[in-house]
Amino acid sequence: MSAQELIDTARAMVAGAKGLLAMDESNPTCNKRFAKLGIPQTEEARRAYRELIVTTPALGECISGAILYDETIRQQKKDGTPFAKAIRDAGIIPGIKVDTGAKDMAGHLGEKVTEGLDGLRERLAEYSHMGARFAKWRAVIAIGDGIPSRGCIEANAQALARYAALCQEAGLVPVVEPEVLMDGGHTLERCREVTEEVLRTAFNQLYTQRVMLEGMILKPNMVLPGLTCPRQDAVDEVADATVKCLLRAVPAAVPGIAFLSGGQPAELASARLNAMNARFKSRLPWALAFSFARAIQQPALEIWRGEETNVPAAQQALLHRARCNQAARRGEYTATMEKT
Ligand code: 13P
Repeated sequence: MSAQELIDTARAMVAGAKGLLAMDESNPTCNKRFAKLGIPQTEEARRAYRELIVTTPALGECISGAILYDETIRQQKKDGTPFAKAIRDAGIIPGIKVDTGAKDMAGHLGEKVTEGLDGLRERLAEYSHMGARFAKWRAVIAIGDGIPSRGCIEANAQALARYAALCQEAGLVPVVEPEVLMDGGHTLERCREVTEEVLRTAFNQLYTQRVMLEGMILKPNMVLPGLTCPRQDAVDEVADATVKCLLRAVPAAVPGIAFLSGGQPAELASARLNAMNARFKSRLPWALAFSFARAIQQPALEIWRGEETNVPAAQQALLHRARCNQAARRGEYTATMEKT
């Protein structure tokens, strides 16, 4: 795989006002979401749900890439078509989550470090063979009393960079996801400070580990007040703080930034992405896109509830959220879209 192919794939992932659909929940996470809705936590239920997603009509008009999980990339539709092929046939680029989870970090109470580097070269080769063209690795950074520590930020940044270098060696575009969590009572300003430090450290490491910035996608959090912060800033304030932070910390060589949703209500995530594009799009060096899981899937999951008869309505809800976020990329999303 040449450097140019990596660059072309990265650009295609954020082209045409489309975005990424994260459907890479690990089995425990997927089961937790199923349990809340009374859906059986079985391999077959997870397979049926992923089939619902990948067979949603017209999904490829607003989704450029879909992030799969190890179990899912090995599964097939009922008719035997592997999910990776079904996705490609829908005009969507298949991707794969390759970290093995955020684990408690030794000596750092309340902090996590993401694992998965051991054997990664071999796993990437296998996923590439199965049709994946990009990969994802998520680091989580919590804000709290005395945290995040420098040790946690640096360990996660180095792992992200080593993962990204291995991806590019294997011809896969790395989606680099350092997520600063929303949990806590911190202010928007505190989130901005932490996010800026996390991103600056990550890009330092990406440079040190010789990652080609033109052939990667950044997947950050939006800059938000903590969930229990008494002051919940307006949509435009969130847009301003997020763009200011990204302009300071993300090199212009990066082709695209695709936000995670992080547990924001789906409509609010669309409104905030929309505000960033409406206010700043013409002045930004990179595309501002989305790579949502919950903010695209949650309404569909709540309609489906494991029932075959609910599939068409759930698919409609999924497509609706994808279309809202496509409109948000253009700065054309409005609350009235939610009523149609
Ligand atoms: P959410 O959009 O639900 O935060 O998920 C994005 C993701 O891929 C987390 O790794």
